[in-house]
Amino acid sequence: MALLNLLLVVLALLFVAFLGYCLYIKRSHMKYDHIPGPPRDSFFLGHAETFLRITKKDGNVHDKFLEWAEIYGPVYRVNAAHIVFVCVYCPETTKDVLMSPKYLKDNFLHSRAFKLFGERFLGNGLVTAVDHNLWYKQRRIMDPAFSSLYLRGLMGTFNEQAEKLMNKLSEMADSKTTATMHSLINCVTLDVITKVAFGVDLNLLNNSSPFPKAIETCLKGMVFNFRDNFFQYNPVNWPFVNEVRKACRLLRTTGAQWINKRRLAMRNGEDPPKDILTQIIKCFDKENTTQEDEEIMLDNFVTFFIAGQETTANQLAFCIMELGRNPDVLEKVKAEVDEVVGMKQDLSYEDLGKLTYLTQVLKETLRMYATAPGTSREVLEDKVINGIKVPGGLTYIFSSYVASRMDKFFKDPLKFDPDRFHPDAPKPYYCYYPFSLGPRSCLGLNFAQMEAKVVMAKLLQRFDFDLVPGQTFDILNAGTLRPKSGVVCTVTHRKYKK
Ligand code: HEM
Repeated sequence: MALLNLLLVVLALLFVAFLGYCLYIKRSHMKYDHIPGPPRDSFFLGHAETFLRITKKDGNVHDKFLEWAEIYGPVYRVNAAHIVFVCVYCPETTKDVLMSPKYLKDNFLHSRAFKLFGERFLGNGLVTAVDHNLWYKQRRIMDPAFSSLYLRGLMGTFNEQAEKLMNKLSEMADSKTTATMHSLINCVTLDVITKVAFGVDLNLLNNSSPFPKAIETCLKGMVFNFRDNFFQYNPVNWPFVNEVRKACRLLRTTGAQWINKRRLAMRNGEDPPKDILTQIIKCFDKENTTQEDEEIMLDNFVTFFIAGQETTANQLAFCIMELGRNPDVLEKVKAEVDEVVGMKQDLSYEDLGKLTYLTQVLKETLRMYATAPGTSREVLEDKVINGIKVPGGLTYIFSSYVASRMDKFFKDPLKFDPDRFHPDAPKPYYCYYPFSLGPRSCLGLNFAQMEAKVVMAKLLQRFDFDLVPGQTFDILNAGTLRPKSGVVCTVTHRKYKK
């Protein structure tokens, strides 16, 4: 009898809690439903079912955001249970929010990358730190490793690593083997970041390594973690969840080994290279480092390991894909490389500045394919956006992918047209931000674009490439955006006109 009573009390409490939660959801609907937005799939899940449906079919949710932007205008609402986000494609608000240090990255979305299924992943590293002071302390110390003086000194490494790719492609051209450009370039960008940032030569084009797969698994895990709160509790997903945890651990234990080796050298009085690893250590190394200090060093190791290569590799792969289907652009950019670089083996820093059309091609690639599609900020105060009152306390989502594909901002947006970025063309006004904007913008922008230009210039100088017919031009949302096909090409040595 007592047990029955207890059961009844528990059921009653659960019912009250459920009712309370329903009222809480209803309240958030009433507060924000004046903001336009697509109809919810259900009272409880809001639009989450739409996202689940798309991702289950391996689709690209960013296209759904684009479709909604075209229908509902420059500010619209998205619900997931009691949570409400607003997607904003109004240049003035984009400028106002992203350019100001007062709007912090939001806790909800960033907590999804802090840990993956219980295993610490990006933690409080530079990309995901939400607390302003914690972020600023790191950014201030990391900045010198990205100064233009320091970056000039990396030209040797960029040339050397890109040359390894050229040798590989040369072998493939000789043996008439098709080349999956995305995975080959991934090896180069990972080689570059490990060499430049951590002083380690992986030589991935000639050695096998668990790192590329581990990065891919972690990013995939991040997508599932974002998409579905309960993913890890479904036994069907346990093998994958374990794989993700193992991949996180591999990256972090590698980080611990490399960091400790460098610290030991520093403590033994050796003069350390002024690279990213040294700066990561300098941010937190002191007499008595706390456990959290140690963890943040590892967070940054993983952050640079991933942020420092994945997005650049994807940009390059998309670039090759677009050049493959735009022969006029290809001829024009080849002609520029021939004129600037000619038969020289290595590119100089000055050469990069002269490759203006290649710069336009790379910018246009990121317009169509923002490989890190967007960012978010918590906005506490009320705002009026496009005449609509948006109450404070909401997360604003900004997507360069969506804005850059809107006809309103870029005429004929699906046309690959590098002339949009001609030096004399009007600059896009807060509707193109593939590296984000303001204080939390990408630290590696110049690094990435220097590396991208060296790889592309060498490729265009040496090889003709054709896309193998029948492959898709679709986008895979794998945490970052990458070409689904992998960009499979036949590669031949260029024949020079006498
Ligand atoms: C094409 C290549 C790249 C693209 C498109 C890209 C894009 C971005 C974007 C959109 C953000 C903002 C993320 C957010 O708000 O959540 C970001 C941040 C960041 N990126 Fe990149 N990135 C690229 C390459 C790199 C490289 C090569 C490095 C390092 C070597 C790097 C390091 C970082 C860091 C440290 C941050 C955090 C900055 C901060 O909050 O202070 N990125 N990147």
